[in-house]
Amino acid sequence: MTAPIRKAVFPIAGLGTRFLPATKASAKEMLPVVDKPLIQYAVEEAYAAGIRQMIFVTGRTKRSVEDHFDTAYELESELEAAGKKELLAVARSIAPADMSCVFVRQPRALGLGHAVLCAKDLVGNEAFAVLLADDLMVGEPPVMAQMVQQYAEWRTSLLAVQDVPREHTKRYGIVSGTVVHDGLLDVTGIIEKPAPEVAPTTLAVAGRYILTPGIFKELENLPRGVGGEIQLTDGIAQLLRREKVFAYRYAGTRYDCGSKLGFLQATVDLGRRHAEVGADFSDWLDQRAS
Ligand code: UTP
Repeated sequence: MTAPIRKAVFPIAGLGTRFLPATKASAKEMLPVVDKPLIQYAVEEAYAAGIRQMIFVTGRTKRSVEDHFDTAYELESELEAAGKKELLAVARSIAPADMSCVFVRQPRALGLGHAVLCAKDLVGNEAFAVLLADDLMVGEPPVMAQMVQQYAEWRTSLLAVQDVPREHTKRYGIVSGTVVHDGLLDVTGIIEKPAPEVAPTTLAVAGRYILTPGIFKELENLPRGVGGEIQLTDGIAQLLRREKVFAYRYAGTRYDCGSKLGFLQATVDLGRRHAEVGADFSDWLDQRAS
């Protein structure tokens, strides 16, 4: 049986200004948490959900992402010649043989909605996943696998949501809706970055979506929204008028690695759990704390 969702879109054309100077000439998505770039965590999450076609919406400074998912012949032959089998397996596992990667450019960073629209021809007429790599998700099963499972049951667009403190609503798209099922809401409204005083709820959209192809028509007709950008949130608000959209409270932890604080938190938590260095790192942290 083919997976209900076959394609994932990774919008990675943003400027990453919150991470300057690191992101002046390098891709934010290539920042490593312990030993793996952010984009690889997101691609592995999609792969674990049965998705095999990865579509990257890229911009200037993002060429290293293309290189990362390409075969590195020189590196592989050096490792092979040196008999470093484990490292060779690590290098090869980045892009399994049954996974395909395609790249499309977003010529100008006109917003997340515009970035998703750039993938329209590559996605075609089928539901697809969107993963924002700067939201690093840790969940078991992985968050996108949870969402694909929900999609298989309900066949509607799905937004991953979590409760946030009211003072943080200005950082997120915020949804309101009615309960359908345990952890599932029928979305009645969505608004981008509302001030805490006017936010209808504290349910915030995290960087994981499953969207029906109907979203493209909405995005094509959108005026610019908050920050002069074409907002995915506004496209979803329009989609809501024609189709059902559900919000799904995922099980897991989200690290906002687009911010310095979230990135450091992810580094500490994943560092503590890392198979090779976790025990030593934890000891070191605990000694310093005591
Ligand atoms: P962010 O809001 O994190 O924007 O975008 P950003 O530009 O990457 O970072 P800051 O705010 O300047 O620090 C959320 C996601 O949408 C993508 C980003 O790459 C990120 O994954 N995006 C955003 C695009 O692909 N294109 C855009 O025009 C805007």
